[in-house]
Amino acid sequence: MSSFVAPVVHDDDEDVVEQTLRPRSLDEFVGQERVKEQLSIALVAAKARGEALDHVLLAGPPGLGKTSLAHIVREELGVGLRTIAGPAVEKKDIAAILTSLEARDVLFVDEIHRMSRTAEEILYPALEDFRIDIVMGEGAGARTLTLDLPPFTLVGATTRTGLLTTPLRDRFGLTFRLDYYDAPELAAIVNRSARILGVDIAADAAAEISSRARGTPRIANRILRRVRDVAEVRHQGAITTEIAREALTLLEIDEQGLDREARDLLQTIAEKFEGGPVGLSTIAASLGEEPETIEDVYEPYLLQLGYIQRTPRGRTITKLGRAHIGVAPAAESKLF
Ligand SMILES: Nc1ncnc2c1ncn2[C@@H]1O[C@H](COP(=O)(O)OP(=O)(O)OP(=O)(O)O)[C@@H](O)[C@H]1O
Ligand SMILES: [Mg+2]
Repeated sequence: MSSFVAPVVHDDDEDVVEQTLRPRSLDEFVGQERVKEQLSIALVAAKARGEALDHVLLAGPPGLGKTSLAHIVREELGVGLRTIAGPAVEKKDIAAILTSLEARDVLFVDEIHRMSRTAEEILYPALEDFRIDIVMGEGAGARTLTLDLPPFTLVGATTRTGLLTTPLRDRFGLTFRLDYYDAPELAAIVNRSARILGVDIAADAAAEISSRARGTPRIANRILRRVRDVAEVRHQGAITTEIAREALTLLEIDEQGLDREARDLLQTIAEKFEGGPVGLSTIAASLGEEPETIEDVYEPYLLQLGYIQRTPRGRTITKLGRAHIGVAPAAESKLF
């Protein structure tokens, strides 16, 4: 993978830290108040009735807590959990996993929008009627065997609801969209993580990290870990605002939380393609990156900041976007 995706790729150590920082209950899960409220009502009701929870779809940009919530659902229900990755799962795996579930278990399908159509079709009757149809044999001798499944809960996570087929989307009883977190919420997450990591952090330093975390808990935690490194290696270990700023400068994360990769993206549209419109695949090729990474990781936040726009003919950079990277539009710059 190219260096462009470095901020979202984490090594095993980081995965381990991410595990330890993961909220374990709805109470520990910061923010997303409406989601938590609705989910907790549904959980209490399902538990009281002794039934499986309705299928849950969690949508939103990377790092906002979808996987964490899936684990919390299982934890709160006190049931088993099976996890499968949408892109990797094949028809026969789905059948095997579905038939091995116990009543009220949670089946977590990550990146559910990338599941193959044949795998998805097995899910339809499973979700609706808790049964699967297996075709035995071939040709004229083929017959369909119907297997009953225990009632279970599918929790699907997706960064892109738009890519979900309508029949699949319609089978979720509960659909939640996670939004970017505001600064106080991120500060609460940073403080909680600092407590777990056993590092002292000044309130202003937590606020500084939060304001540059692009509304994303995973990024806030990642910055915190790098800031902690700087505090330990160059200073006495405690995190002050000055140390946080020093580390952020080192990481090349600017006041809006954009890293070098995000700024490169803006620069490419502004300079190489004269502000756009330019197609996603062209931008991706120019940066040596996968279109999906750009679309999932970088664009949502740049759109939210109003730095870029999506038009039918491609992406364009806005005035605000240009101002941020200090590039004047081509027509204007000719005046100088
Ligand atoms: N609401 C929250 N409160 C506290 N910490 C959170 C919250 N949401 C996310 N985190 C932290 O951010 C990390 C990333 O969250 P998570 O893995 O759940 O995101 P995700 O939405 O599944 O991302 P992806 O789309 O990349 O799979 C977690 O390990 C956790 O430490
Ligand atoms: Mg996840």
